[in-house]
Amino acid sequence: GDRDAFLDNLCQRVEAGMDQGLLPVEVFRDDTVFRAEMERIFTRNWIFVAHTSEIPNKGDFVLRRLGLDKVIITRDNSGEINVLLNHCRHRGSEICHHDKGNASTFKCPYHGWVYRNNGDWAGAPHLDDAYGGPLDKKEWGLLRTPRVEVLHGFIFTSLSDNVPPLREYLGGAAWMFDAIFGLHPDGMRVLKEPERFIVKADWKSGAENFSGDAYHVSTAHLSASLSNFIPAVNEVSSVACAYDFGNGNSFIGHDLPKLIHPMFEMWGYPPEFREQFDLSGLDETQIEMITNKPPTIGTIFPNFSYLRFPQPAVPGEMPVPFTSIRVWQPVAPGVMELWNYELEYAFLPDEFIEKCYLAGQFGFGSGGIFEQDDTAVWEGIAKAASSPWNRAKGTQLHYQQKREPIDETWKGPGNFHPSVYGESSQEAFWRRWLKEMADGKAERIIRDDACNKGAQR
Ligand code: FES
Ligand code: FE
Repeated sequence: GDRDAFLDNLCQRVEAGMDQGLLPVEVFRDDTVFRAEMERIFTRNWIFVAHTSEIPNKGDFVLRRLGLDKVIITRDNSGEINVLLNHCRHRGSEICHHDKGNASTFKCPYHGWVYRNNGDWAGAPHLDDAYGGPLDKKEWGLLRTPRVEVLHGFIFTSLSDNVPPLREYLGGAAWMFDAIFGLHPDGMRVLKEPERFIVKADWKSGAENFSGDAYHVSTAHLSASLSNFIPAVNEVSSVACAYDFGNGNSFIGHDLPKLIHPMFEMWGYPPEFREQFDLSGLDETQIEMITNKPPTIGTIFPNFSYLRFPQPAVPGEMPVPFTSIRVWQPVAPGVMELWNYELEYAFLPDEFIEKCYLAGQFGFGSGGIFEQDDTAVWEGIAKAASSPWNRAKGTQLHYQQKREPIDETWKGPGNFHPSVYGESSQEAFWRRWLKEMADGKAERIIRDDACNKGAQR
């Protein structure tokens, strides 16, 4: 009906705009767009929900979101990971009201139906009187996602049966995951609880920014330089490069040895820890990349982003690398809940990990010096999107930085852009978004070159 016609028209405008480096502003806050994103993007792709280190033992669970739905991520009594919809099959009440815990069963607070931690229906009060015996445990079990896969501890799930295996789906981005998260056999662990806070900005503002926007750093984050927290903030975008794997999965790299000091190879992990990395599974390009221009920031479409950067735990001290991931959790049109997790390699000593954690919180915690800069400017975008003036005028945003040639000698997957200017990663993000949004019913197709069309522009 009207809705489909609106979306068709919008997608045509986005496509026509992208070819000229323009984007209709309303995509950042609109009821119809938001609803379609929930239906077309968050139900059909691999979505990150939790890290295995958050549920190490049988019975452990955390409460998370998959699009708009709350889901319980459990490690069941047989050790398997399940992603269960947090709604009772009887009349739909929410079953779990704890952010995390350990439980072999979940009991609904309304009439008391009980489910096992693998989702099976397990019982109900007054069973014989009310039902004359037990119900079918599978038929009346909690809804569960058909697909769950783990990559370096990161749990991804999909509501679609038709997604390719995670590694295949991620393509070059999985190669990047190996280089970022696969440096030690003990893996990484989440530090403390994920922070979560509401931001009146669209989830795509965060995802797009982390995919390739180093340009904003010298302006939006200037206070970090003026306060001497990171003196070189002005030069951060000049030593940045882009790793673009198509499909909206892109990473920014930084020549940290040049930006900070030659000893800041491999994100600035101190040499005694670097020696303990096991690089035997990496290829030459990965090793050269993490040594000289490590990926520092990145986005996996749709709403998972990564960040590892050296910062001082206390202003004036030697910078240490912190690793955080953030989830741009859609809540409503132009509103997201921002989840900030910090992780670190499990083999590192607690004292060092504590420093990394502090450095991360100082910069990118909810009150962090960088985080506040970003969320403040993104909120303006959502307002622009619903501005009657902009809407009446059909305002389009500017994505026309002059495109630098790609590096033809790059041996890794995807494209390597020696400079981050050119906004190619942002364009790739929007082409992927467009592909998902325009494709209302069709089966998923991935690795379509159309998503990476910008690289050749
Ligand atoms: Fe859950 Fe009735 S709604 S037991
Ligand atoms: Fe920023």
